[in-house]
Amino acid sequence: MRHITVNAEHQYKVHIGERFEGILNDVSQSHAKIFVLSTQYIVDTYHLEQFLHPLENSTLFIVPDGEGQKDISVLEKIWQAMGEAGLTRSDALIAIGGGATTDLGGFAAATWLRGITWYAIPTTLAAMVDASVGGKTGINSHVGKNLIGSFHSPTGVHIDLRFLNTLSDRDFSAGLAEVIKVGFIRDASLLEILQNQNTVEAARGVAEELIFRSITVKADVVSADFQESKLREILNYGHTFGHAIEKFSHYDIRHGEAVSIGLVFAAELSVKLLGLKEEVVDLHRSLLQQFALPIKTNVAFAPLLELMRSDKKARGASLRFIGLNSIGNPHWLEDVSTDVLAATYERMSI
Ligand SMILES: NC(=O)c1ccc[n+]([C@@H]2O[C@H](COP(=O)([O-])OP(=O)(O)OC[C@H]3O[C@@H](n4cnc5c(N)ncnc54)[C@H](O)[C@@H]3O)[C@@H](O)[C@H]2O)c1
Repeated sequence: MRHITVNAEHQYKVHIGERFEGILNDVSQSHAKIFVLSTQYIVDTYHLEQFLHPLENSTLFIVPDGEGQKDISVLEKIWQAMGEAGLTRSDALIAIGGGATTDLGGFAAATWLRGITWYAIPTTLAAMVDASVGGKTGINSHVGKNLIGSFHSPTGVHIDLRFLNTLSDRDFSAGLAEVIKVGFIRDASLLEILQNQNTVEAARGVAEELIFRSITVKADVVSADFQESKLREILNYGHTFGHAIEKFSHYDIRHGEAVSIGLVFAAELSVKLLGLKEEVVDLHRSLLQQFALPIKTNVAFAPLLELMRSDKKARGASLRFIGLNSIGNPHWLEDVSTDVLAATYERMSI
């Protein structure tokens, strides 16, 4: 088992290689009540009820599958159920699922009684390497993705690698997009490892190492800048454009797939504004395609621009991006003009 420490508003550990049944048991021993959030698929496939049943102090709440669960209507039902369960400040929430469930569960915990303890048990690669670590929690709304949220760190992140066995190749690849992002901004060894895995199947064989290295970077960055005053923004490489695509598709495409296209956009923008070498952009494309990730879109540019303006990273009317000077060397791009963005979009679409 491996552990990584994160220093945020409190210190906590990410544990890699645990068994979720033991975690449920341990957490239920240290709180009077536990409130467990998960999807029907995870409940059925991993027999959650069988493990929760002997725990007399647990309540199970089933959330809808996918991005749709990050919605105020779902949150309202969770608050209602928390009230009915009599959840107090000494009780805890456990979110078991992909990034959508850990984002939603973390936000439910952040807002209940002004913040109760929560634990994350991520079940997708995206949630393991990214969403469950770092304390960003939140929901979507008609005005944009993740615009409503809170920084509220979990008390523990417990990664049971067995969950990956049922994850589709599509979802595994979506998680790899975030790993590739980390490779370009901070840890080039991730790119080398992935270059040596020709297929998604092969990448699954090195999942534990990818997870460990990606979380190590995220933990370092979050520990230095928990509330994203500057450094943490590097983790948003590829995300400004990615979020716009995700929102435009009405969350039809996976977050990681949208980020994949966003990474190519950010790399092309870096060629134009920072002199990033073309061969690094080629490496973005080849690595992403190696794992069947999309590298362009045929959506018109104007609506994407409009959506980028509502991104969290926008400041007033100016659009901001994270670019790359070279691998491992990110750079903040402020006030990027619409003309440059349109030209970049055209170049990436060829
Ligand atoms: N808070 C953060 O810092 C942060 C960082 C990155 C991403 N995110 C958020 O995470 C979400 C994307 O994460 P995601 O891709 O995990 O989304 P998700 O939770 O929607 O999961 C994707 C799909 O995988 C399925 N699934 C989950 N676990 C499974 C398993 N073990 N076996 C088979 N199928 C399984 C789900 O049912 C769903 O259909 C987005 O909402 C994104 O905004 C948050």
